[in-house]
Amino acid sequence: MLRSRVDALPPHVRHAAGLHFGWWTDDGTALDASDVHKAVRPALALLTCQAVLGEPQAAKAAAVAVELVHNASLLHDDIIDHDPLRRGRPALWAAKGVPAAILAGDALFFAAVQTLTDAPNAGRTVPVLLAAVQDLIEGEYLDILTETGTRASEDRAMAVAAGKTGALLACACELGALGGGATPERAQLYRRFGRRLGTAYQCVDDVLNLWGEEPVTGKPALSDLRSRKVTIPVAVAMAGNTPQARALHTLYRTSAPLGEEDCLRARDLIEQTGARDATLRRARQHIATALEHLARADPDPVASAELASLGHLLVGRDH
Ligand code: FPP
Ligand code: MG
Repeated sequence: MLRSRVDALPPHVRHAAGLHFGWWTDDGTALDASDVHKAVRPALALLTCQAVLGEPQAAKAAAVAVELVHNASLLHDDIIDHDPLRRGRPALWAAKGVPAAILAGDALFFAAVQTLTDAPNAGRTVPVLLAAVQDLIEGEYLDILTETGTRASEDRAMAVAAGKTGALLACACELGALGGGATPERAQLYRRFGRRLGTAYQCVDDVLNLWGEEPVTGKPALSDLRSRKVTIPVAVAMAGNTPQARALHTLYRTSAPLGEEDCLRARDLIEQTGARDATLRRARQHIATALEHLARADPDPVASAELASLGHLLVGRDH
């Protein structure tokens, strides 16, 4: 269904979107369909639907819609972050230019709305998706505001994580539960589960940007430091009154993007404060809270076990 939604786009924007998904090359040669990514959001929509004893079919539109929004947001995010690599391939803006990537992102976003509009219960589901996108945008906006390093705080970095990543995971869970027939109250518990999961996910993402392997993550290493973003490990490291924290503040006070040497030094300083482990600890705490919300929703045990192991997998991942 994801593929058919993209196939329904007008030809030029369809071509650009397919390049982003890695379905074909610029000359139209089809690529191996085994090049799949994590698809966390669709998995959450389907599993939360099962958790309320709904048929997986009932969450199919939700699963596709959240994946389309996610990809729309990645297209725009890579432009905003000036990151030229995504999933181990050139980001669409780097391959085809910024206008192409903006337009492909716009097309995917509206294809997502269309997907829910064409499915049952649109009056209830579309507002949930639209509200999540506003949260996502606010989170991303807050994220770019942290690039100057001023007003850095862990609370702020967590708010960014909850917005730019938690919002859509929350939405996937709420839509999945609603699709499966959950009451709005019960769907809210799944929503809270997803939001915490997303916050944990972003904690790990921030750690991987600093210590992940570029060939494994498929994304540019250290790019958050280059643009002096106050991500969660940076905020945690800056919080203490340590020589490392002071040195980090000094590095972030410059106005130019950090060079390679400065990035490596900043990463060492962060590591020395223990902020890497502390951030991963925060991720595990968010997962634990997520699982408390899940338990309160009284989920089907099989789906619940799968949701819990998905949560643990997300924290232990290397890409
Ligand atoms: C990634 O953060 C952030 C997002 C995927 C959210 C981006 C949100 C927007 C651009 C606004 C919404 C726009 C639309 C069209 C729906 P990151 O940079 O930390 O992650 P990364 O390492 O994967 O790039
Ligand atoms: Mg980014």
